[in-house]
Amino acid sequence: MAHTLLNDTFLRALLREPTEYTPIWLMRQAGRYLPEYNATRSRAGSFLGLAKNPDYATEVTLQPLDRFPLDAAILFSDILTVPDAMGLGLDFVAGEGPKFARPVRTEEDVARLAVPDIDATLRYVTDAVRQIRRALTDGEGRQRVPLIGFSGSPWTLACYMVEGGGSDDFRTVKSMLYARPDLMERILDVNAQSVAAYLNAQIDAGAQAVMIFDTWGGALADGAYQRFSLRYTAQVVAALKREHDGVRVPVITFTKGGGLWLDEIAATGVDAVGVDWTVNLSKARERVGGRVALQGNLDPTVLFAPQDAIRAEARAVLDSFGPHPGHVFNLGHGISQFTPPDSVAALVDEVHRYSRVLRAPGA
Ligand code: CP3
Repeated sequence: MAHTLLNDTFLRALLREPTEYTPIWLMRQAGRYLPEYNATRSRAGSFLGLAKNPDYATEVTLQPLDRFPLDAAILFSDILTVPDAMGLGLDFVAGEGPKFARPVRTEEDVARLAVPDIDATLRYVTDAVRQIRRALTDGEGRQRVPLIGFSGSPWTLACYMVEGGGSDDFRTVKSMLYARPDLMERILDVNAQSVAAYLNAQIDAGAQAVMIFDTWGGALADGAYQRFSLRYTAQVVAALKREHDGVRVPVITFTKGGGLWLDEIAATGVDAVGVDWTVNLSKARERVGGRVALQGNLDPTVLFAPQDAIRAEARAVLDSFGPHPGHVFNLGHGISQFTPPDSVAALVDEVHRYSRVLRAPGA
């Protein structure tokens, strides 16, 4: 059966090819701001019950696409599935976020750490990828939008593995980094190999682009960032399959707070760089636009404003990048659980509408 992608705008923008409009998707687009997500989550019993069941994961992945004309789907999962597969015992405590039963703290903990057997421990993720691809495709082999796979960066995963959960100041993980850089580098090496194997398994299963979330790269000092975050993300990028079934698989990295290191991030070999809302897109494009596409970067709190303000802020982001190829619209970080769904509808509509106006001859 012939396979056709009905909307490949997102993939073309990542490769800096011209598109008729600017594609948009939102980090954490499937999540608690949608009542239908909360309904599925309560049927599943818990967040992990949802993420580890491919039927539920498929259902919630499609929910935002059924509401809004988004240009990409993202696998419903979490970055913490990888340390969970390493045996650290992941749990989500209500109101407290993620917790690991067995954090990595001592020399012995670090020595025990190993790359998990992806097929044995993360089969539920690759099964979800295959099932989502089928659900996005009709009886004639026509797929609505491409599917994004993802992972945490080696450094961001290490933050959760060593802290044992979220943190305000990263005291435990940064203490290890400064006191025992050898231990830190061994964790990061295991993580880099694990993340590369995990993303390659997602690509084999049908992920059509992959994204690496370095949420806590921006918590590092200049110098430490290059040594403990960027270097290992670059190792992952170098180990990825960049083609599947003869089709290019673009790679995106997102470093929250990484604006100052844009040139170095762009030099890792990625196709696109995700940027948070502190970055000026026009200047960023001048700095790196010849090498990579940019993804971002509306402040997620704009979505709490009235719709005319949301539309004006969306136009400001589009104007800042300008009518050039190589922009994927997104938020500068994940969508808040308190976002009104109607605000998202207005945002998607304005990005599609105004980006066409921006490209019109004589505009
Ligand atoms: O973008 C998507 O729609 C795909 C799904 C996705 C989730 N998490 C679902 C999720 C993705 C891409 C992630 C990535 C993720 N997870 C990151 C990196 C991106 C970022 O936001 O910085 C991080 C740091 C995590 C770790 C994580 N997962 C935390 C800190 C939490 C708790 C957050 C909170 O507010 O409670 C999660 C849980 C989580 N992951 C939820 C969702 C929808 C909410 C859980 C719930 O339903 O109770």
